[in-house]
Amino acid sequence: MAAVSESPVFRATTTAPVNIAVIKYWGKRDATLNLPTNSSLSVTLSQRSLRTLTTASCSAGYPAADELTLNGKPQDIQSSKRTLACLASLRAHRQELENANSSLPKLSTLPLRIVSENNFPTAAGLASSAAGFAALVRAVADLYGLPQSPRELSRIARQGSGSACRSLMGGYVAWRSGELPDGSDSLAEEVAPQSHWPEMRALILVVSAEKKDVPSTTGMQTTVATSELFATRANAIVPARMAAIETAIQNRDFPAFAEVTMRDSNGFHATCLDSWPPIFYMNDVSRAAVRLVHDINSIVGRAVCAYTFDAGPNAVIYYLEKDSALVAGTFKAILGSSLEGWSGPFYESLKDVSSPGVALDQVDSRAVDVLKSGLSRVILTAVGEGPVSVEDHLVGEKGEILSRQ
Ligand code: PMV
Repeated sequence: MAAVSESPVFRATTTAPVNIAVIKYWGKRDATLNLPTNSSLSVTLSQRSLRTLTTASCSAGYPAADELTLNGKPQDIQSSKRTLACLASLRAHRQELENANSSLPKLSTLPLRIVSENNFPTAAGLASSAAGFAALVRAVADLYGLPQSPRELSRIARQGSGSACRSLMGGYVAWRSGELPDGSDSLAEEVAPQSHWPEMRALILVVSAEKKDVPSTTGMQTTVATSELFATRANAIVPARMAAIETAIQNRDFPAFAEVTMRDSNGFHATCLDSWPPIFYMNDVSRAAVRLVHDINSIVGRAVCAYTFDAGPNAVIYYLEKDSALVAGTFKAILGSSLEGWSGPFYESLKDVSSPGVALDQVDSRAVDVLKSGLSRVILTAVGEGPVSVEDHLVGEKGEILSRQ
């Protein structure tokens, strides 16, 4: 149990969302600053389903070294260069405020105690670093009263985990790669708010994977150094896709959004396969999901769903609310309603769907068998908002660590 403090404890608490890219970030031009070789674009997912809750606090009564507790476990901050880089930038901004206004409390000199919890199991294999670093940066920025916009804060979150810079905003978010060596122009920006296209839904198929994947940083570095396809992807293919997907989002054109999304996921995994030695993130279960999405689209006669895969085997399937029965209804019929996850705030429109949206005898039966036996759960979610400031502090008034789980 962390020490209780008699000195005043300053606190700020925020939630932050997960984001799933439709144009993938893969490759660093500067590993220390986390500068990408190409721009990327993601959909921020609803915090009604998945979120990180983080309290940042500081007090003269805390032990001298900054502390971070994640899901109840104390972390070794000193060995995480990325966390140290984020905290150093945030402190420097606070110090600027204190230098300009001597009446402000000198929070920049006080030790920090940061406590963070995910509302989703780490075992689900979902990348939690994006939501985690976005929440950490937002919470400390709020604690310090920093005037920086989410776009400016994205420069700091990026140093924690590249994809974290996109979790500081809601809706549809681009991370512009930028060109400057110091990374000052490598920032995230909202392409469209959640309210522009709120009908976007996501069905996450969580694959029961027994093996740990190659970490994204190691994988990216191998790809940049060895893949012959990679330069074409970064220099020619992705810039054209960024333009195409932004147009599709502006026009709420789901078929165009779907094709670019699926092609970019496939192209990213092609550069992984083209790395030397090759890297495999997708497995047989992932490929079964790919097959079924293409089958559903071809049976319906238009693109009603789109898959995308990150550095792991889980499938994220985007679709529009109006096509819930066709897409999620078909997957529910295939997987059975007893699989965990057919519940929650985005289940309403599916509750009464009892038959599959498309005839199951028309989809690939081997893919059905592989998918049925290879998933541990599903998560039904949707496009959502950016970080939200809340009062459910994970640090008490005297500095004690609380838990919400
Ligand atoms: O931010 P990182 O280092 O976790 O890398 C994320 C890479 C992908 O998830 C595969 C793609 C992306 O743009 O999120």
